Amino acid sequence: MNATDPATALPLGTPLSAAATRVMLLGSGELGKEVLIALQRLGVETIAVDRYDNAPGHQVAHHARTITMSDPEQLRALIEAERPLLVVPEIEAIATPVLQDLEERGVVRVIPTARAARLTMDREGIRRLAAEALGLATSPYRFCDSLAELQAAIDGSTAEGGERRPGIGYPCVVKPVMSSSGKGQSKIDGPADVQAAWDYAMAGGRVGAGRVIVEGFIDFDYEITLLTVRAIGMDGQIETHFCDPIGHVQVAGDYVESWQPHPMSSFALGRAREIAKAVTDDLGGQGLFGVELFVKGDQVWFSEVSPRPHDTGMVTMITQRQNEFELHARAILGLPVDTRLASPGASAVIYGGVDARAMVFDGVDAALRVPQTELRLFGKPESFVKRRMGVALAFDADVERARARAKQAAALVKPRAV
Ligand SMILES: Nc1ncnc2c1ncn2[C@@H]1O[C@H](COP(=O)(O)OP(=O)(O)OP(=O)(O)O)[C@@H](O)[C@H]1O
Ligand SMILES: [Mg+2]
Repeated sequence: MNATDPATALPLGTPLSAAATRVMLLGSGELGKEVLIALQRLGVETIAVDRYDNAPGHQVAHHARTITMSDPEQLRALIEAERPLLVVPEIEAIATPVLQDLEERGVVRVIPTARAARLTMDREGIRRLAAEALGLATSPYRFCDSLAELQAAIDGSTAEGGERRPGIGYPCVVKPVMSSSGKGQSKIDGPADVQAAWDYAMAGGRVGAGRVIVEGFIDFDYEITLLTVRAIGMDGQIETHFCDPIGHVQVAGDYVESWQPHPMSSFALGRAREIAKAVTDDLGGQGLFGVELFVKGDQVWFSEVSPRPHDTGMVTMITQRQNEFELHARAILGLPVDTRLASPGASAVIYGGVDARAMVFDGVDAALRVPQTELRLFGKPESFVKRRMGVALAFDADVERARARAKQAAALVKPRAV
């Protein structure tokens, strides 16, 4: 079996033996934990990696490792020591050049590809690919390295030859190129907000150096995540499968509620699938992708893509026959997938509400008495007021009823410091 041959199912062996099929997760939060559980169920030997001890995924894997994944030396040393068959990035902040080097040398296969991991960890990489190489509709955008450049990008500028470059205008959104979960991101409504947005972006980026993207604000009707799976079909060729669209609400760039299916016109859905196919075809490899799209009427804009399960997709733990984590696990192992919806449903995030280590959750019994609900408590060792500590899930005949149930259950869970 050639580690770089994508078109066959991997032989599944016996964990903790010479015949084990070994998979390493880079990032072991709540999403990684569910991927690990799905892999465990198929008898895969799992190595969970995170930056701190006792991360959620550490608690369910065969092996738990703690390293700084953005440190090239640490990452290289760990992969070379463990020699997994697959490396599965679950977060963005990873030394992706190391993954590219190890993939090129045939040491490991990176999911979906090392190039996809590199392009999507940086807003500039994926935006230039989507808008400039693939010609997909996106918000208007500009990259800036200083406050002066940001102001010029918004206002427009005149080049030396007298050529006028139009500005992004107001309102617009500023984001550090290296950031996720809304960190360092803010909306600018007018000139008075520019300085504060720049300062906030500088404080919230993943790496110190201050590059931002400024995007024109899209006044969308709604936004969706289109979970898109590249898996091997009967004939050994990659097939693309789509889940039903997931609607969600974001507060300060962080998801608080999601539901599936989100109603869409068949035209807009068709367009959304075309965009998702174009992006995922280009990124390549096998696995599940979360394609984020903005929709207004029949108009669809590409926003960004995660080459891995998506936080808003946690709703699939109650809505789909195979949830997004199972779909990812199956697709990366070369197994067939089924993206069918089982029931409309919803998810609602449970935040820590307190800054505390080893906190407790009151009201779990009350929450689970709400009919047609489930809970996931992630087991994070430390809570912060705005840290996602769990999620409530609900199903019902339609998404509106499911949303009400999920929110009710989430509100009944009361985190408490001890
Ligand atoms: N150009 C835009 N116009 C309107 N709304 C936007 C724009 N860009 C971002 N948003 C809003 O902010 C949210 C977060 O933006 P984005 O997905 O780019 O950030 P993120 O930090 O990668 O978030 P996450 O990691 O949670 O996906 C979007 O889901 C959308 O609600
Ligand atoms: Mg996003």
